[in-house]
Amino acid sequence: MIYLDNAATSFPKPEAVLGGMDAFVRSSAANPGRSGHRRAVEAEAMIEATRRLLAQLFGYPRPERIVFTLNATDALNMAIKGVVRRGDHVITSVLEHNSISRPLNQMEKDGFITLTRLPANGDHLIDPDDVARAFTPQTRLVAVTHASNVTGTIQPVAAFGGIARERGALLLVDASQSAGIVPIDVENDAIDLLAFTGHKALLGPTGTGGLVVGERVVIAPWREGGTGGDSSSPIQPEEFPHRLEGGTPNIFGIAGLREGVKILLERGVESILTHERKMLTTFYSALKDPGRYSWYGADRVIAEKRGEGRVGLVGINLAGFAPTETAAILDEQFDIAVRAGLHCAPYAHKHLGTFPHGTVRLSVGLLTTAEEMREAAAAFDEIAASA
Ligand SMILES: Cc1ncc(COP(=O)(O)O)c(C=O)c1O
Repeated sequence: MIYLDNAATSFPKPEAVLGGMDAFVRSSAANPGRSGHRRAVEAEAMIEATRRLLAQLFGYPRPERIVFTLNATDALNMAIKGVVRRGDHVITSVLEHNSISRPLNQMEKDGFITLTRLPANGDHLIDPDDVARAFTPQTRLVAVTHASNVTGTIQPVAAFGGIARERGALLLVDASQSAGIVPIDVENDAIDLLAFTGHKALLGPTGTGGLVVGERVVIAPWREGGTGGDSSSPIQPEEFPHRLEGGTPNIFGIAGLREGVKILLERGVESILTHERKMLTTFYSALKDPGRYSWYGADRVIAEKRGEGRVGLVGINLAGFAPTETAAILDEQFDIAVRAGLHCAPYAHKHLGTFPHGTVRLSVGLLTTAEEMREAAAAFDEIAASA
């Protein structure tokens, strides 16, 4: 099988990730922080070690303010619902995944907030000047993706962060498609809230993710409960990470995530981005006639003409074939896994003009090889030839 659906979840998981989970499940799998015995202490230590590794990865010196969540959706909901108040104005964009768009749309529909959804330009980028112009005295939050899961475009989040800071608002960045691929420095990029998922480029299992909560952020917990710490307090404690971490965490998942983050720190995130772009370039160069396909977001990854760049995913459509049809042929006849459709980002497809059928998305990962990309290109050429 050739797996080109890493933007959905990375596969295969590195052996170290599987081994790390296996070893942890067999040895210290106790409830962290809940009991004083040695195994519970070991579980707690593993979680804190993972927090420190993530802090290193994201250039953030306060590991206790990195809270574990179920996934990016959980982290984004936690951030949005924790900081936005009635009457606030929020700025977002057409490039967002539904895990940002839906909570904000519902809040707008309920009359709780007002919302500005910024357009993307022809390069699939959000213009920082548009962000600045969208501000009102009520703007509390700018909520944007770092790398689009449809176009792969990397947004200039540091510019958004500077604008938000000048105006006393917060920047929430959805790093689902960038964490582990694009270097992120929460402090230099002026990011207040960074939501990430553990099962994509961080190489961990599903059921893991987190939220980095900057020091300027005042956030209400939306999941309250036991924290294993001071049980006498009648309400959720103020201290991090307990403020946002009610309930027993996914310790098996976090044990795998720890190994994934270690791999990234050892290899360096920049080398992953270089590898991903190389894989896309290999695919493009191996096609007999790239001009016969419609490309969405690939142009600059392949040409690498400008600095903003793209992560290793691309939308590609073939005249005469619905995206779902191409994906089914790739799966059934060539054993190639891709994802077709709207990718949970309908506004992005409206922006591209590919709504409602979407695109075929190829997304590469750390373990994708050049040979696999050449085989995928040959499969596309064969399908195109049959049209
Ligand atoms: C840009 C973006 N945001 C959010 C998510 C949601 O991630 P999760 O399913 O891990 O919650 C995804 C997943 O596809 C995504 O691509």
